[in-house]
Amino acid sequence: MDALDGKKVLVVGGSSGMGEATAMLAAKARAKVTIAARGHDRLAAAAKRIGHGVEPVMLDALSDSSVDKFFADGTIWDHVVSCVGAGGRGSVRELDMTAAMAAMDGKFWAGFRIARRARIAADGSLTFVSGGLSQRPAAGAALISAINGALEKLSQGLALEMAPVRVNTVSPGPVDTPMWDRYGADMKQKFLESAAARVPLKRVAQPVEVAEIVLFFMTNRFVTGTVVPLDGGSTLA
Ligand SMILES: NC(=O)c1ccc[n+]([C@@H]2O[C@H](COP(=O)([O-])OP(=O)(O)OC[C@H]3O[C@@H](n4cnc5c(N)ncnc54)[C@H](OP(=O)(O)O)[C@@H]3O)[C@@H](O)[C@H]2O)c1
Repeated sequence: MDALDGKKVLVVGGSSGMGEATAMLAAKARAKVTIAARGHDRLAAAAKRIGHGVEPVMLDALSDSSVDKFFADGTIWDHVVSCVGAGGRGSVRELDMTAAMAAMDGKFWAGFRIARRARIAADGSLTFVSGGLSQRPAAGAALISAINGALEKLSQGLALEMAPVRVNTVSPGPVDTPMWDRYGADMKQKFLESAAARVPLKRVAQPVEVAEIVLFFMTNRFVTGTVVPLDGGSTLA
C-alpha cells in the first residue's frame, strides 16, 4: 500500500489489541509508526513484536497534561488513531459513579483530548474505535452504549469541523483481544464463545479485521463522517 509509505501514523492504544494490529499493518505498509499508551513494558513488548522501527511513547489519554505535553512538539501527523478505553459494564443502579465517570473519561474524553491537540495534515485522517453496543444497546451495558454513541457523534461533528482532515469511526462487535484477559482465560473463552454464537458469521472478529478498516480510512481520500460497523452481521440479527 504505497499511500502510507513514509507517512507519520500515531496509534494511541497501540500496545495491544486492535491498536497493535493497526500499528502492525501501517508499519508493514512502510508508514513511520508511533504507538502510545500508559504501560512502558507493554509498549516495549509491542514495539518488538511489530518491528519496522516503530516508536513506543508513553501517553495517558486520561490526563490533560499528558496529552498536551505529548502533542506540544508540534509534529504534524498524517494519520492519528484513538483506540483506548475499557470499563463501564454494569447496570446503572449498580455502577459506582466514580467507575462510571472513569469509563466515559477513558474513552470519550480521551478521544476528545486527542482530537483537540493532535495536529493532522490536511490530507490526513483521525480515526476512533467505538463499539457495536452503540448500534445495539444491551441491558447491563447502557453506559458503554452511550460512550460509544457519543464518540461516534463526536467523530461526525469533527468530520465537519476538521475538514479537509477526514474523521471516521469503526464500530466493532466483540473482538478477540487482550482486553478480555482481565476476566481470566476460562471466562474470556466462555464470553467469546457465547458472543460468537450470537453473530451471524458464528465467530468474533480478529484485531487485524478492525485494522483493515482503519487503514481503509487512512487511504481512501473521500471517506469522512462515517461510522462503519464491523460485526459479522449482528446489526441485522
Ligand atoms: N475487544 C472487544 O471485544 C471490543 C469490542 C468493541 C469495542 N472495543 C473497544 O475498542 C478499543 C480497543 O480495545 P482492545 O480490545 O484493542 O483493547 P486492549 O487490547 O485492552 O488495548 C487497549 C490499548 O489502549 C491502551 N490504553 C488504555 N487506556 C489508555 C489511556 N488512558 N491512555 C493511553 N493508552 C491507553 C492500552 O495500554 P495501557 O493500558 O498500557 O495504557 C492498550 O494499548 C477500546 O475502546 C474498547 O472499548 C473492544
